[in-house]
Amino acid sequence: MEHKIKNRHANTNFKNMKYRLLTGVFILSSLFGQAQTPSIPGMDKLEWKKVMPGVWKASFGETQLNALDYTDPPKVEAITALGDTPFPFNKEATQFLLHPSRASIRLPLDETESIYGLGLEFKGINRRGNVYTLKVDHYGGVQGYTHAPVPFYVSSKGYGVLINSSKRVKIHVGVGNRKDGKLPELIDRTTGKNWAARPLSDAIEASVQDKGLEIYVFCGKNPLEAVQRYNLFCGGGVLPPKWGLGFWHRVSTQFSSDDVLKEIEDFKKYDFPLDVLGLEPGWQDFAYPCSFDWDKTRFPDPKKFVKTLGDQGIKVNLWENPYVAPTSSMFKAISPFTGSHTVWLGEVPDYTLPEAQKVLLNHHQKNHLDIGISGYKFDEVDGYDFWLWPDHATFPSGNDAVEIRQLYGLIMQDMFTEHLKKQNKRIYSLVRSSYTGASSKGFVIYSDYYGHEGYVTALVNSSMSGLLWTPEIRSAKSAEEWLRRFQTVCFSPMMQLNAWASKTKPWSFPEVTDMVRDVIQLRTSLLPYIYTAFYDYNQKGIPPFRAMVLESGYDSKETLSGGELDDAENPYEELKKTEVTDQYMMGPSILVAPVFTGQTERKVVLPKGNWYDFYTGKYAGNGEIVTIKTRLDQIPLFVKDGAIIPMLKATKATDQKNNGPLEVRHYGTKENQYILYNDDGESYDYEKGEYAQTELSVERKRNGELVGKSTSLSKKFNYGKITWRWMTKQQ
Ligand code: GAL
Repeated sequence: MEHKIKNRHANTNFKNMKYRLLTGVFILSSLFGQAQTPSIPGMDKLEWKKVMPGVWKASFGETQLNALDYTDPPKVEAITALGDTPFPFNKEATQFLLHPSRASIRLPLDETESIYGLGLEFKGINRRGNVYTLKVDHYGGVQGYTHAPVPFYVSSKGYGVLINSSKRVKIHVGVGNRKDGKLPELIDRTTGKNWAARPLSDAIEASVQDKGLEIYVFCGKNPLEAVQRYNLFCGGGVLPPKWGLGFWHRVSTQFSSDDVLKEIEDFKKYDFPLDVLGLEPGWQDFAYPCSFDWDKTRFPDPKKFVKTLGDQGIKVNLWENPYVAPTSSMFKAISPFTGSHTVWLGEVPDYTLPEAQKVLLNHHQKNHLDIGISGYKFDEVDGYDFWLWPDHATFPSGNDAVEIRQLYGLIMQDMFTEHLKKQNKRIYSLVRSSYTGASSKGFVIYSDYYGHEGYVTALVNSSMSGLLWTPEIRSAKSAEEWLRRFQTVCFSPMMQLNAWASKTKPWSFPEVTDMVRDVIQLRTSLLPYIYTAFYDYNQKGIPPFRAMVLESGYDSKETLSGGELDDAENPYEELKKTEVTDQYMMGPSILVAPVFTGQTERKVVLPKGNWYDFYTGKYAGNGEIVTIKTRLDQIPLFVKDGAIIPMLKATKATDQKNNGPLEVRHYGTKENQYILYNDDGESYDYEKGEYAQTELSVERKRNGELVGKSTSLSKKFNYGKITWRWMTKQQ
């Protein structure tokens, strides 16, 4: 049976002579015993081929499932527009080794280089000095076990590396010293100073249990450009439907259609917007494993139910996990295409097979999508090992169980994004696992891990791996925490309340209800700005929510502390870096600095250039660390000099009538231009030129006064009347 269902990127595998030679040497030496003095096998030089401006590839041996087969084709023009740059590090020092059971590579690292990325991590940003086993799993086990481990890293020197494997990549980020590498000074721990438990290493080394590897290098003039190139190589970023950027709420698994309707009335009563309503497992007549069939007692008329919500501008999203219950109406059809092991006694479809995809898509089209369901929440596609199939499980495609596990979430995202695209509909949905090259998929990741600080760090890190992440709200111990979590989620790719289990409603803490409503309103009014940022993601690969290390002029002024050896207490004590993991950029000019429960003040690192307070327009600082007093009713936001920020009066993202009027804010003193993007908000017609761009520009007249001008080249999709608001008092 054919293993791959498509090959959108040119086939890249090649059989390498060296592989056969090296294997031969191993076989010979084991047959005849070690005749010579044992020596470490030397590594071979990687051969790099330029595949696009600023993109190089090297490969050796053979690989099987290719994640890039499930990504969109590269946006070559946009990559070319970034210009050409030389290979970013010493090609001569790039090496590989093909051992009979392992393929490994070694790439050079400078002494001062920082390394970011490697997927959805909840702790830390700089990965240097650590070892990660990149495995799709729940978060919290071994380093690198996470919902979306992505074998792509970005260097502070402005390049990115993708280790394109669907096996578990084990990566040593500047730890481990090869004896033929450049070794640091040898220090006697008893008498010397600065002995290090992890001596500085001159390389990144990575390996997989496989017969080959493919590696891509993405250049850039800075780290952001490297990320852009990687995203563009994977098809660019997703442009969500506008409703997807509105307010999401999920209801109890026990809810019936009548309960949902009552809940919607409460939303109206308390004056909260609602754009997407999520149904949890109980919409089905069997769950864990799933039937994917409506439960007729709780939802006697699903079509009418979805229409009633649709008429109120509310989309419906369905939870499911992929494991098929024997009671499901699609069980018989899919069973021939499932693997050897069950999950919760449900069969595991092999979605690397087109036949399996077809059964699922037909079933979902007929029972859900045809009646207006907008998308899904694909749960449990990540782990744990004691829930999912073992590594030795077999699947009818013949593909490896480990690879199928790594790619499961990605393949589901690809399947549904593509399926709806054929119907000219954009999808915006949820998934609990992802992998390489997911930027163009209409899916956002979530987790059961619930640390607020970690949720913010995950948001920062996701931007360096082509991922979108929601720090959704599930519960809170206090009104303050409730509000602080709302403030964060409103400044994230998906504003979702997933508090069905705790039964907490947006208005459950009366003392902060107005503030919760206000921050949702603020997010909604920023829709034109956020939507335009997503268009830049789509076209240029610029993540709409971004790590500060991708921002020019940013210097976190990280400090090193600790490192005092004490034989009894900390015999391996190491220097620790203080990292800034709790602030990020939204769109081109807003810096978001979330506040956690109990914080009465916080530090904010402002990159070079003048920055202003979003709420008051007052000067806040320039290239410095400022300490601000927090306010309960505000999430601290800072704005770049010259920023032009279009804002709506809307309360609901889905309400197209609320497209205008627009208030355009200007901050600081600089002249500037901003291209505002708009389209129909839900179809792919924008790919055929059906969109509008309005140039908003600010110029300073001779008398020193700032004036704003808007020029639109299109009659369609305009936001209507524009009022300028000058946020910063001019001197
Ligand atoms: C969890 C998931 C939750 C919720 C629940 C339903 O695993 O993370 O968001 O959907 O399953 O049973």
